[in-house]
Amino acid sequence: MRKIRQFTLYSLGILALLSAFGFYSPLFNQPKQGEYIIIGWNDLGMHCANQDFSKMAVLPPYNNLMAHVIKKGSATTWPEIVTDTFSVTYEIPGNTYSVGKTNFWDYEFQLFGVNLTNNIGLTGKGLSGDMDTTMDYFHAEGIPITPYVDTNLLTEDPYQLALIKLFDASGNLLASTQPVIPVSNEITCVSSGCHTNEMDILNEHDNVSGFSTSNLPILCASCHSSNALGTTGTPGADPLSQVIHEKHKSSTSNCYKCHPGANTQCHRGTMYSLGMTCTDCHGSMQDIAESIDNGREPWLEEPTCGATACHGSNYAEEPGKLFRQSRGHGGLFCSTCHGSPHAIYPSSNARDNVQNIALQGYAGILNKCSVCHGITPTYAGPHGLVVTEITETPGDSPSENHLHDLYPNPSRDITSIPFSVADKGKVYVEVVNLEGKIIQTLVNKALPVGNYEVDFDTRTVGAGIYFCRLRQGNFSDSKKLVVLD
Ligand code: HEC
Ligand code: HEC
Ligand code: HEC
Ligand code: HEC
Ligand code: HEC
Repeated sequence: MRKIRQFTLYSLGILALLSAFGFYSPLFNQPKQGEYIIIGWNDLGMHCANQDFSKMAVLPPYNNLMAHVIKKGSATTWPEIVTDTFSVTYEIPGNTYSVGKTNFWDYEFQLFGVNLTNNIGLTGKGLSGDMDTTMDYFHAEGIPITPYVDTNLLTEDPYQLALIKLFDASGNLLASTQPVIPVSNEITCVSSGCHTNEMDILNEHDNVSGFSTSNLPILCASCHSSNALGTTGTPGADPLSQVIHEKHKSSTSNCYKCHPGANTQCHRGTMYSLGMTCTDCHGSMQDIAESIDNGREPWLEEPTCGATACHGSNYAEEPGKLFRQSRGHGGLFCSTCHGSPHAIYPSSNARDNVQNIALQGYAGILNKCSVCHGITPTYAGPHGLVVTEITETPGDSPSENHLHDLYPNPSRDITSIPFSVADKGKVYVEVVNLEGKIIQTLVNKALPVGNYEVDFDTRTVGAGIYFCRLRQGNFSDSKKLVVLD
């Protein structure tokens, strides 16, 4: 054993020597497949676009992909978010052109004042190409994808898989991934049966001075400001989101009449599976219109997961930022582990789950630490989560939730936290400091009714006073724990 080791060290020594003279350096510098992973997502979870632009346009074909490249960690190194010397490409296998699937390229000059090459979108991106870097992440903005794959021009396929590839400086493929690039044409003013035809909609502007249907097509956002397109609108016209929701509030409360849609079902993530609807988070048509009238910036001020919202401070966005703009554990965007808004993992649409199944072997939040770390760290990770073994202990089936006495307490190393669960639903066992901040989450999952025990390694926190807390729904119970040096 010893011999082999010496031999290995010796030969490594020679290689190091050679590399010092420049002989072997390409071999050493070259990243090997498997050392890097790439994780991609769509910024909004759904992009809708018109298909026919001959008369009016709400939204052009415009989709955004984002990605993090992570150099995997090991027992001795942390994972690292990297960008330099890499190139990242995107494509949508099976969807290689857009002209003919929409007539956007016949009207882009009238609508947006630009002449675009066929199949190239408003920012210069096509259906495949290179992703750009900003700070430490990759992105491709304005991909002009339509919901029609090359082999089926009749039926929408709103959840196509993009293919994102990571190459090193010499062009070797290091990793790839397949997030959904969602798009739908289901803006159904006419096909919903609500409006007879598009001229009917435009004619409602008869009384608006300066409005003329002799100059088609018309971009609604040219007069009604839209933060989605970055237009500031014209004086006298309210923001598009405000007028559209206000005008229709008495005719419908069905968001899928305009947002995609009866077929697309853009709201499909875990919050959908749990029974939440658009209005649970966004309020009614009236609320949306009225909040803009009261100063809310459409698209830029939206509901949030945490802080004062449902999930509380331990699961919050960065202050003043939306979910899609926020970062959490390790400086990663929330979407790296959770997916896109409205498609939060695990999604009810199988395509959304493809990436995480490939990365960790199962759908759902990216919660397998070793995907990025190579190992399972013993210290607290995302939201203070520590990977623990939850042991079932003998005893009668409990009639109510209960946090039992911690032992030993005070503690120098491992303290056991025994607890009983009598109700279904997600159970949390948390370590909270004197300021009330959750510093470790030892359990965050639904458990069957029963008695359990989980270990808390107090060496991972400093000496002092902490509270161990059992939480489920409205139930909460804490016990004081003294940690010694
Ligand atoms: C030439 C500028 C202009 C364009 C282009 C335009 N609008 Fe308007 N629109 C107005 C003005 C001005 C009003 C009246 C003030 C207000 O409510 O904003 C108005 C009002 C509205 C209203 C409220 C009507 C009501 O009775 O309450 C809706 C809805 C609306 N527009 C939708 C659209 C849509 C959809 C498009 C694109 C097809 C569009 N507008 C294009 C200028 C425009
Ligand atoms: C009559 C069609 C229509 C209906 C019905 C409708 N929307 Fe919209 N909605 C739109 C359009 C068009 C836009 C894009 C406005 C823009 O480009 O700024 C929009 C934008 C939005 C936005 C982003 C802008 C903002 O104000 O923050 C939200 C959120 C939204 N809708 C939520 C809803 C919800 C929730 C419902 C159901 C209660 C609903 N909408 C029903 C047409 C509709
Ligand atoms: C669980 C809460 C929740 C539900 C349910 C929900 N939304 Fe949202 N919605 C959000 C959040 C959070 C954002 C902001 C996401 C971001 O941009 O980071 C958002 C943003 C939006 C936007 C702006 C574009 C974007 O993605 O930022 C639109 C449009 C929208 N929602 C429409 C809808 C419609 C239509 C439904 C129902 C079909 C719906 N939402 C259901 C939470 C929700
Ligand atoms: C490195 C991956 C990772 C990142 C980045 C991340 N999370 Fe999480 N998140 C998790 C894990 C793991 C859980 C625990 C739940 C589980 O494993 O099922 C979780 C749980 C949650 C929950 C559910 C809370 C509950 O009560 O169970 C919310 C909400 C949440 N995260 C929001 C966010 C937000 C907002 C951000 C960005 C500021 C973010 N997360 C960043 C991995 C991550
Ligand atoms: C999607 C990739 C990813 C996943 C999954 C992930 N981590 Fe990390 N983790 C990182 C990155 C990136 C860093 C930043 C390293 C640095 O600061 O240089 C990090 C840092 C850490 C650190 C160092 C302290 C800190 O918070 O900066 C700990 C401890 C840690 N992770 C634990 C965990 C645990 C436990 C899990 C699983 C529950 C986990 N991580 C899951 C990417 C990940």
